[in-house]
Amino acid sequence: MKIIRAKDYNDMSRKAANIISAQVILKPDSVLGLATGSSPIGIYEQLIKWYNKGDVDFGGCTTFNLDEYRGLTPDHDQSYHYFMHKNFFDAVNIPAERINLPDGAQLDAERECKRYDAAIKAAGGIDLQLLGMGLNGHIGFNEPNDEFDKETHCVDLTEMTIEANKRFFNSIDEVPRQAYTMGIATIMRAKCVLMVVSGKDKAEILKKSFFGPITPQVPASILQLHPNFVLIADEDALSAL
Ligand code: F6R
Repeated sequence: MKIIRAKDYNDMSRKAANIISAQVILKPDSVLGLATGSSPIGIYEQLIKWYNKGDVDFGGCTTFNLDEYRGLTPDHDQSYHYFMHKNFFDAVNIPAERINLPDGAQLDAERECKRYDAAIKAAGGIDLQLLGMGLNGHIGFNEPNDEFDKETHCVDLTEMTIEANKRFFNSIDEVPRQAYTMGIATIMRAKCVLMVVSGKDKAEILKKSFFGPITPQVPASILQLHPNFVLIADEDALSAL
């Protein structure tokens, strides 16, 4: 595990974008694992700037996102498809046919999860997986559990998540109850895992995840065992160490 200290969110984002662009320059046909949420937005903004300057070219890349809500179509403004197009894909040159997310519109969960794992395998596996981390140590939608979830699977969202998400929808009934997510094994198989963590509210869980015991109750703690895990955290997120 390598920990890189960043000053603040912008510094963290630039450092992470540097690693991703180096990956793409060294291996133009890289398979990138991508994340949504507030943590990676600054990275995508930085990568778009460098792409526009001609410093990095995503034309040979393939991408796989971590997760998607089950039941939301790609054009729904709360879907992760929509988020990724708005914040990254529409501004760079990754060929549309090589952009992959779980298909939230496919309601046959078993079929969709199998399809997604097979597609990752067929692409040769993930070279670099970008991750954020939830306040409870979740990665993707892998929530604290009695065991580490393995492959891509369908999860029931907790009441807490449903409640937290309702502000983005017209009513609580519209909030998806389930999501598809890469599993812990899917994530651990990536050749390199790059996590970004920012903010004081993540300081305690960062300490627990990477300086505490490895346990499925803190899903991110498994990354301590990854042979090529890079954590970029800002000073606020490192403040409990
Ligand atoms: C995103 C994802 C989540 C987030 C995590 C942190 O695709 O799978 O695990 O990375 O919830 O979210 P933010 O970055 O918004 O704090």
